[in-house]
Amino acid sequence: MLNLPRIVVGKFLSTIKLSPSVFSYTDTSPTTVEISPENLLIVTKNKRCSVFGILKVEPPSRGLKNSPPLEFQMIYRKYQDLFTSLHKLGINVIYLYAISPSKRESLPNSIQFLMVSASGSHKLKKQLQVQVLHDLGRTTSALLSAFPELKTSQLNYIDLYRVLYRLMNNLEISLPLPSNISPSNIPSFLFHLQSPLKVVSMPLPSPEIGFGELALGEVFYMNNRVGPFRLRLSDLSRHMCILGVTGSGKSNTGKVLVRELVSQNIPVLILDWHGEYKDVSDNSRFSYLIAGEKGPRGLHISPLKPFKLMDAAEHISLVTGIFEEVYTLTPPQSYTLRVVLSDLISSTDDPTLEELISYIESSPASLRISSRESRLALLRRLTPLVEGQTARIFSSGNPATIEELLRGYIAVDLSYLKDLNTRTLVALFLLKMVYEYKLSQGGNTPLHVTIIEEASNILPYRRPEMPKSIGERMISELRKYGESVVLISQLPTDTSQAAIKNSCVKIFHRIGGKEEIRIISGLLGLPENEISPLSNLPTGYAVVKIDSISTPFLVHFYNITNLKPTS
Ligand SMILES: Nc1ncnc2c1ncn2[C@@H]1O[C@H](COP(=O)(O)OP(=O)(O)O)[C@@H](O)[C@H]1O
Ligand SMILES: [Mg+2]
Repeated sequence: MLNLPRIVVGKFLSTIKLSPSVFSYTDTSPTTVEISPENLLIVTKNKRCSVFGILKVEPPSRGLKNSPPLEFQMIYRKYQDLFTSLHKLGINVIYLYAISPSKRESLPNSIQFLMVSASGSHKLKKQLQVQVLHDLGRTTSALLSAFPELKTSQLNYIDLYRVLYRLMNNLEISLPLPSNISPSNIPSFLFHLQSPLKVVSMPLPSPEIGFGELALGEVFYMNNRVGPFRLRLSDLSRHMCILGVTGSGKSNTGKVLVRELVSQNIPVLILDWHGEYKDVSDNSRFSYLIAGEKGPRGLHISPLKPFKLMDAAEHISLVTGIFEEVYTLTPPQSYTLRVVLSDLISSTDDPTLEELISYIESSPASLRISSRESRLALLRRLTPLVEGQTARIFSSGNPATIEELLRGYIAVDLSYLKDLNTRTLVALFLLKMVYEYKLSQGGNTPLHVTIIEEASNILPYRRPEMPKSIGERMISELRKYGESVVLISQLPTDTSQAAIKNSCVKIFHRIGGKEEIRIISGLLGLPENEISPLSNLPTGYAVVKIDSISTPFLVHFYNITNLKPTS
């Protein structure tokens, strides 16, 4: 049974009528509104309880605006189908579109929300919360499979409070805010409202965790702040992973880390899956490259060109492996690819994808033993890569050299690429460039950090009996060569276990689920019942485990938006 600590926002004697279809309380008996640690809104009145979970839906940062009308109709129809199927699943979901009039609002002018709810007797409150959380998960996956380009996150505590505050305000109900706090200050005030954290069974953390170069947050022990968390570079240099559900604060932690690395003059490469690091890279020392865009900020790489100091056989095996994994090639298809690549590389030192394609089309003698079908299947995979967005990365412009990519502070925005396979492909090729370069230097290079967002895409879960994936092979080697890879991913069950285990610093933000808790309990060496409060961690908090320090500890990471930029 869940035992959720609750935060009571207020008791109200007035009528709440937010919208006839959502709430319709017309009498004046007291209504209690609470925000649960899982960021659910719970409204209790007259022994009836309604639980609401709200997802914010963000459109792609570019696009839509200039879409032709036809596309709009298609989107509309897709939405209709989506809602029909969600309702069929018994999920009570409505779509809200909010437009705020004022330019001074910190929220954008229009926001889309999906609101999932369940109601019943107040005795069922806990079950209703579990149900809404489950339905939020199902709604998110259905939405993202219909519209992979959208971003969605559950409204966090602050946003939820803001929404509530605004709704209440419109109804002239004032929330209990202390007099010295104006609504614009809500965020910092709210953190003090958090219910007591229940991660109490850990021993007092070792003072070593406050001595490192990188200031990332505050250490908490038994609900008290006990000092700063300062990570040592020597711990970071052997990989880090940051795990947690969407909205638990992983990217914020990644950004705080980036900011500290910049202040220590340590170069970083960010593989920015959702295009979230733009604000960090506003820092003038950053270059922000956009994969798939035309113009000066577009990224260009030559995926087939062997790195000068690298063994050709290793290069061919990596390139084939990457295509094989991303496109699940059959053995004959990957055999064909391997043969044409080695033919091509022996005749030119800068082969292009176009050349590869026309070489396959010419059915050279060396391909006699591969079947026509496998050649055609391979061509079907490869030709889209020399068209449209991908062509802008792989076959045009002046390719970025690895020296350029590793020298400075670089974020590569992958979110512009609509096709997720292409994103994975570009991310893996960038990782391959880092890998080849670092190996060729034999570990004699200064520390460099590569941050991989949504790492489960390039380091997916693998059953133990299956061979290591390409990504796993690369990052386990990189550990020896002065390269720190920071993996940011959602769940331990969708990410490579080897990659998580190989991270010297493990950061667990909010994560629930039986299997997840079981795995984390193994990784931290703590009993499962001591790990279960992880599922209630407020956003921005995480349990941190560093290999060189025996016990895990609780950290409240700094909020990147409150930190002064370094210059
Ligand atoms: N340490 C923190 N302090 C305050 N707010 C935070 C903190 N970490 C995250 N947030 C806020 O929570 C929301 C979700 O965080 P984000 O880092 O994007 O989560 P994730 O990457 O896990 O989906 C963001 O609005 C972010 O500003
Ligand atoms: Mg994120």
